[in-house]
Amino acid sequence: MILVTGGAGFIGANFVLDWLAAGDEPVINVDKLTYAGNIDSLHPHRYDLRHIFIQGDIGDRKLVSDLLQNYRPRAIVHFAAESHVDRSIHGPDDFIRTNILGTFHLLEAARIYWSGLPQPTHDGFRFLHVSTDEVFGSAAETDPPFAESARYQPNSPYSASKAASDHLVRAWHHTYGLPILITNCSNNYGPYQFPEKLIPLCIQNALAGKSLPIYGDGMQIRDWLYVKDHCSALRRVLQAGQPGETYNVGGWNEMANLDVVSTICQVLDELRPRPDGKSYTAQISFVKDRPGHDRRYAIDADKIRRELDWEPVETFDNAIRKTVGWYLDNKDWVENVTSGGYRNWMQQQYGT
Ligand code: NAD
Ligand code: TYD
Repeated sequence: MILVTGGAGFIGANFVLDWLAAGDEPVINVDKLTYAGNIDSLHPHRYDLRHIFIQGDIGDRKLVSDLLQNYRPRAIVHFAAESHVDRSIHGPDDFIRTNILGTFHLLEAARIYWSGLPQPTHDGFRFLHVSTDEVFGSAAETDPPFAESARYQPNSPYSASKAASDHLVRAWHHTYGLPILITNCSNNYGPYQFPEKLIPLCIQNALAGKSLPIYGDGMQIRDWLYVKDHCSALRRVLQAGQPGETYNVGGWNEMANLDVVSTICQVLDELRPRPDGKSYTAQISFVKDRPGHDRRYAIDADKIRRELDWEPVETFDNAIRKTVGWYLDNKDWVENVTSGGYRNWMQQQYGT
């Protein structure tokens, strides 16, 4: 079996769902269930003996050590993190606690467990750390996309905390030999994403008749990858990645935020036209920019294509339609996650 951390969050839940659909290997899922974690996302597997859910903190070394000793997984896939840049600007504490200290405790629990494993399980063990392209900082318009060798230049408390965790993971390989793998992925979108991030936020606000807040001039560029493609890349890295190596994962799909939001509006105009016949683009509103806002993220995902034969299969046009369709069909999920805490966040961040 494998142990997943943060498997009730956006990418972790998609990973667990896809993993259980693809084979019979069980998953132990350790998640603290912060505001971003939602057990409802795993509803199809609530009675599935292959899915063992434990509510717990990755910083609880005793809990994680006990789980490792009792279940004896062959790999750890580490998603658990605080993941929202805007929240990291308002309050970085949890980012330092979970992303840096939590990863440290998890690494130590994993190292001690791995050290005691007999052969050949010892050599086959993997610690896959799921990270972000944001560790490379902001690219200029004409810069080539970031390769794995690019310099780390994180600019936000979130990306700095992820960069620190990447360094710890790398050091645990270099110093102790722990067979780690690191992936640095671009912006994901798809089902089960908490509606504080750009794409689900705009879908929700559009349907609620609220404004679609675009920071600054909306010309910031991100590379967008459908979450199911990210999950298939992670399965491939786990299967064939070389211990100690880092792999960039991206969609080869750079877009300006304004274009992303306009595309969402076009899809909604088609699937759920406004009663007044106007386009949802009428709801776009330019708001104050994010402090320290990175202008462009661009990822060179050639290494994973060359060495592991992985490429995304989805196009943005197709997958954004699926994503909008998913949010239209899953209003209950959205209502459950947009609790009082969510409303407080919207008030604090947007004043509405
Ligand atoms: P998310 O915020 O949706 O989910 C994070 C999950 O981690 C939640 O279920 C939360 O309850 C859990 N968690 C938080 N603190 C914890 C702790 N101390 N112990 C145990 N569980 C804890 O995040 P996501 O978007 O699914 O991102 C998952 C990972 O992928 C993160 O490490 C993130 O940095 C990375 N990543 C995300 C993106 C993206 O676009 N979302 C892109 C690249 C990399
Ligand atoms: P986000 O989804 O928060 O991801 P990240 O900051 O990790 O890239 O934001 C994606 C882009 O959208 C980013 O450039 C910030 C911008 N954005 C807005 O313009 N308005 C918003 O309300 C949000 C949440 C993000």
